[in-house]
Amino acid sequence: MEIAIIASKRNFENKLIAKEAEKRGLNVKYVNPRSVRVLVDGDIKIYDRFGREIFDENVIALSRVERRVLWEGFTLLLTLEKIGYKVINSAYSLLIGQNKFLTMIHLLREGIPVPMSYLSFSLSGALKFIHQMGYPIVLKPIIGGKGKDVMRADCRKEFVKAAKYHLDKMNCVLMQRFIRHGGRDIRILVVGGEVIAAMYRVAASGQWKTNITLGGKPIPFKPDDELTEIAIRSAEAIKAEIAGVDIAEENGQMYVFEVNPTPLFRGLIEATKVNPAKYIIEYAMEMARK
Ligand SMILES: Nc1ncnc2c1ncn2[C@@H]1O[C@H](COP(=O)(O)OP(=O)(O)O)[C@@H](O)[C@H]1O
Ligand SMILES: [Mg+2]
Repeated sequence: MEIAIIASKRNFENKLIAKEAEKRGLNVKYVNPRSVRVLVDGDIKIYDRFGREIFDENVIALSRVERRVLWEGFTLLLTLEKIGYKVINSAYSLLIGQNKFLTMIHLLREGIPVPMSYLSFSLSGALKFIHQMGYPIVLKPIIGGKGKDVMRADCRKEFVKAAKYHLDKMNCVLMQRFIRHGGRDIRILVVGGEVIAAMYRVAASGQWKTNITLGGKPIPFKPDDELTEIAIRSAEAIKAEIAGVDIAEENGQMYVFEVNPTPLFRGLIEATKVNPAKYIIEYAMEMARK
């Protein structure tokens, strides 16, 4: 059996996944979705840049597709699914999970609580809703990560500035009610329908964004039954077999912010000593036997 890690980079997480696979005697190859060539001629064949066929029969494709190659990655995953390969984290879950608006509507439809959100493709459309939402308002890129360009507006002036920035960059404005979580939220990692590790992320002092990459501190945490269920159902809502689910609490009410189909886990390992790569590979091997 072979594991094909679909990613553009050999980052910390992917190296760890490769190591766990090799430990168990699996062959590992990295496939950069940008480097493939696909021939459709009666059948579908995928070649590398040297013209060699990349995928043998008993390959499991493990999506670690990053946002920078989202479209190429999505295309490759869906192609692999159509050929008949097992793809872990389907193309579908990648597309939904990387899009914050589409994630919200999938969660909402499964009865999972999400912050009040509003999507507009114009400034006049966005301004129409500020009163209903009330300040502060969070504006975030519909596709993005690491807290980048996630902004908070406390007044109309700040809102207009931020909304213009987002319209300029992304052609849309995604607004959300500000959840008063006090600078702390919860990341729960789900693999194969089970919670394998969880942590609090505590924002750096004076910050409201909890992202580890922005200085958020990972602290080990054991989710109760309610949070465990929310995390598992959130992963299911976008059909992700592997997902990092972000949950914030405000006055005892939980809200899901994100379901990340390509989760990073350096902070989680630091906090919990759990190695997600081991669970991911064991899950992939279990799926291969099915
Ligand atoms: N509606 C919100 N209310 C309060 N804080 C928020 C809200 N949305 C995001 N945040 C904070 O900003 C951080 C980054 O936002 P998020 O939507 O997770 O984007 P990213 O993909 O960049 O991590 C979150 O981890 C959270 O701490
Ligand atoms: Mg986030």
